[in-house]
Amino acid sequence: MARDILFSGIQPSGQLNIGHYFGAVKNWLRMQEDFDCMFSLVNLHAITVRQDPVALRKRSLDFVAAYMACGIDPEKSIIFAQSDVPEHSELMWLLSCHTYMGELERMTQYKDKIAKHTDNVNLGLFSYPVLMAADILLYQTKAVPVGADQKQHLELARDLANRMNNAYGKLFTQPEPYIPSTEDGGRIMSLLEPEKKMSKSDENAGNYIALLDEPNVIRKKLKRAVTDTDTVIRYDREHKPGVSNLLTLLSGATGKPIAALEVDYAGKGYGHLKTDTGEAIVALLEPIQANFHHLRNDETELTRVMEQGAEKARIRAHSTLNKVKKAMGLI
Ligand code: TYM
Repeated sequence: MARDILFSGIQPSGQLNIGHYFGAVKNWLRMQEDFDCMFSLVNLHAITVRQDPVALRKRSLDFVAAYMACGIDPEKSIIFAQSDVPEHSELMWLLSCHTYMGELERMTQYKDKIAKHTDNVNLGLFSYPVLMAADILLYQTKAVPVGADQKQHLELARDLANRMNNAYGKLFTQPEPYIPSTEDGGRIMSLLEPEKKMSKSDENAGNYIALLDEPNVIRKKLKRAVTDTDTVIRYDREHKPGVSNLLTLLSGATGKPIAALEVDYAGKGYGHLKTDTGEAIVALLEPIQANFHHLRNDETELTRVMEQGAEKARIRAHSTLNKVKKAMGLI
């Protein structure tokens, strides 16, 4: 029996960090066995903010190597660059004509981005969620594993699927988000400012742990992580965001539930928690980093994986796009 389709993607901008790992990639790995998976390097999304073309190309290969180093297997899953499948952009236009300005104006990520990039408030930033909906709907996707910050975008994709299906007959599968709970890593917070999300575009590298950070850098970053003036190791997102984030990271890296960690750390100090979290993350990332360096050395193979992925993706994309164009009366 054909398996349900899973689609997800990461923008090749900044550095992959443990927020992406816990929020998205961990679920990708878990779901890879049960779904027909497509993992995209969403480079068309990345250019909504200025990119250096040479760095973007290099980073795209870094990201493919990182997907594979984490355990995404190109023999089981399709790995491809969004820009290699022009149907994404074409479906986006068709969906744009069914998307209301008000829906896009409400998007919190758009509001955050225009506040941050005041010198480059471009149309792509505004219509970004429509491209994301096209990514998903193009493949008749059933499952979309993402972090909590993508929830609003997923809702738009679902609304557009409904709207189009109601207008033209059944064109798209209704996608379902798979978002880990906050305790499980759906929203990993910044180390120095735990009220805000850990982000790959943060100017201060002390705020995030990159997947490729050296072990000593990881240890140091965790030692500096902001906690609070209290001394109790307890999970409480609202009043103890820093400590709660450390508990989430430690739990994610060791597999031990937060409630059990609270018991283990009763009476212990924050220093202890930070050291152990650092060691657990180092242990988690060490094999990934070793795999990465090995894979990244072979650009021919990485390019082959992307070409093979794009070829498979194009066949699927073509089939949905044709159906949509026909239904809309485009000859
Ligand atoms: P992006 O590139 O910002 O992030 C990639 C994935 O990582 C998750 N994530 C986090 N999860 C937990 N805590 C964090 N601090 C954290 N930071 C990032 C994101 O939720 C995401 O799942 N628009 C998307 C990319 C995209 C996409 C798609 C995803 C484009 N088209 C289609 C799914 C399906 C984005 O900007 O992700």
